[in-house]
Amino acid sequence: MILAGAINIIPAPLSVMEDKGSFKLKGNSISCDSSIGQNAKDAVAAFSAQLTLCAGNIYPVSQPSGLAQTVKEGKAKGIVFCVDPTLKDEAYHIRISKDAAIIEASSENGFLYAIQSLKQMLPVAIWGNKAAEDQKWELPCCEIKDKPRFAYRGMHLDCSRHFFSTDEIKKVLDQMAILKLNRFHWHLTDDQGWRAEIKKYPRLIEVGAYRSGTMVGYYTGPSDNIRYGGYYTQEEMREIVAYAQKLGITVVPEVDLPGHMVAALASYPELGCFGGPYEVWTMWGVSPDVLCPGKEQTFTFLCDVLDELCEIFPGEYFHIGGDECPKDNWAKCPDCQAKIQELGLVADEHASAETRLQNYVTSRIQAHLKTRGKKIIGWDEILEGDLEEGATVMSWRGLSGGIEASNRNFDVIMTPTDYCYFDYCQDPAKQESDEPLCAFWGDLTLEKVYSFDPTAGLNPQAAAHILGAQANVWTEYIPDDAQLEYMIMPRLLAMSEVQWCELKNKNFANFESKVKEFAFPRLELQGFNFRNK
Ligand code: ACM
Ligand code: ZN
Repeated sequence: MILAGAINIIPAPLSVMEDKGSFKLKGNSISCDSSIGQNAKDAVAAFSAQLTLCAGNIYPVSQPSGLAQTVKEGKAKGIVFCVDPTLKDEAYHIRISKDAAIIEASSENGFLYAIQSLKQMLPVAIWGNKAAEDQKWELPCCEIKDKPRFAYRGMHLDCSRHFFSTDEIKKVLDQMAILKLNRFHWHLTDDQGWRAEIKKYPRLIEVGAYRSGTMVGYYTGPSDNIRYGGYYTQEEMREIVAYAQKLGITVVPEVDLPGHMVAALASYPELGCFGGPYEVWTMWGVSPDVLCPGKEQTFTFLCDVLDELCEIFPGEYFHIGGDECPKDNWAKCPDCQAKIQELGLVADEHASAETRLQNYVTSRIQAHLKTRGKKIIGWDEILEGDLEEGATVMSWRGLSGGIEASNRNFDVIMTPTDYCYFDYCQDPAKQESDEPLCAFWGDLTLEKVYSFDPTAGLNPQAAAHILGAQANVWTEYIPDDAQLEYMIMPRLLAMSEVQWCELKNKNFANFESKVKEFAFPRLELQGFNFRNK
């Protein structure tokens, strides 16, 4: 079932009231408050330029004084962007009549999202790069009131298992922005490749950024023995931060610690329990070799690395990983055992002494990052044993970690594998079907993503700790841009409705129609690869 006009926006707005008639686009004036913010002004200018290119005519932008009063008196004409301080952060309000399209918000993101919604109400040609004057360039008369269900609306990208260029990351960020996502979780380090230039530790990119081969086919296939790698310079990371910021997206960098560190160990073997030698990993899975927290130089290294990255990433969160850290080496390492003694860590029914040693790592890094003004996010393993106040838990091994964390008063981002792992196959028939090689296991259809409710089963107090949800794109089996895009789309469209829409506004049949009728032609025009069913 296709609903007319404005309702075809993805993610579906909070409320839409459609009226008769339309606002015709024919070189109308665009006025905006001088106080809408630079990002919003730039987005308005880009919207004006895009209309000029696609719809024809010129849409001159001005900043007249007294705009709010003109709007209040009902005298506004043309396209008007006006601040309404009573609206919530990221919320917006669109009122379209035959004479005016009035857009109000209180935050830059509110204006950015309103523009995304306006574009989705126009002919699909608005997403192209050429004139399409034969299209029906008009906006349906309507009133839209919109705001997000969750404050944290993320997508993660693993750039370690496979490396993606800054151009490709920007292409993905553009799609996130259209869907009103606001956090890009950048997985920059792992066993199979260190991707962030750190000036104080040059071997991280000289050695850690390259592996001697990559596993062929499914785990555990042979290595292809082809050297593979790449890294982002600090300048490139800054470029991504700035690009994302313009789109209203904050980058959350991740340095996965103390496990998933073989690339760092290959570069600086003295950071391991037994000194190596180590090689950047060529297979998938979880390595038993992890950082040695019994050695003080490990903390010097970590703090130095994090300090350089804190200068590049201005957001409030730093993701410190914490997942899948085998403790076998620590149980045998004299330095780790001496540290356990020194700290008086003892096993009990909740946690082993080695798990408490990981708690010590987490808490020390958390304290260090606090001095840099950052809060930590960690995978749900950081909940095992003790966890200091102020940490945010990313629940990936199902919902249970998130439920436990929220009941223990920690903030939570829900990313359970069953609903959020975009490396899983989209086709339930998996390998027998036309799906490319894609996942360790599991399938995750569009409908399953759509069905996710991040607060299901939580009491209101615990639900208030759920900051939001995130799609995770692990890339062991995603070797190139085309497949990356295929795995993201159309599932990110479904995730955006999980993150943005109130439950009462979710309807899979409507959503699926909107995807096929509107999103697929847009993606096609934008040259973004996608699974077309
Ligand atoms: C994870 O998937 N290891 C967080
Ligand atoms: Zn050790």
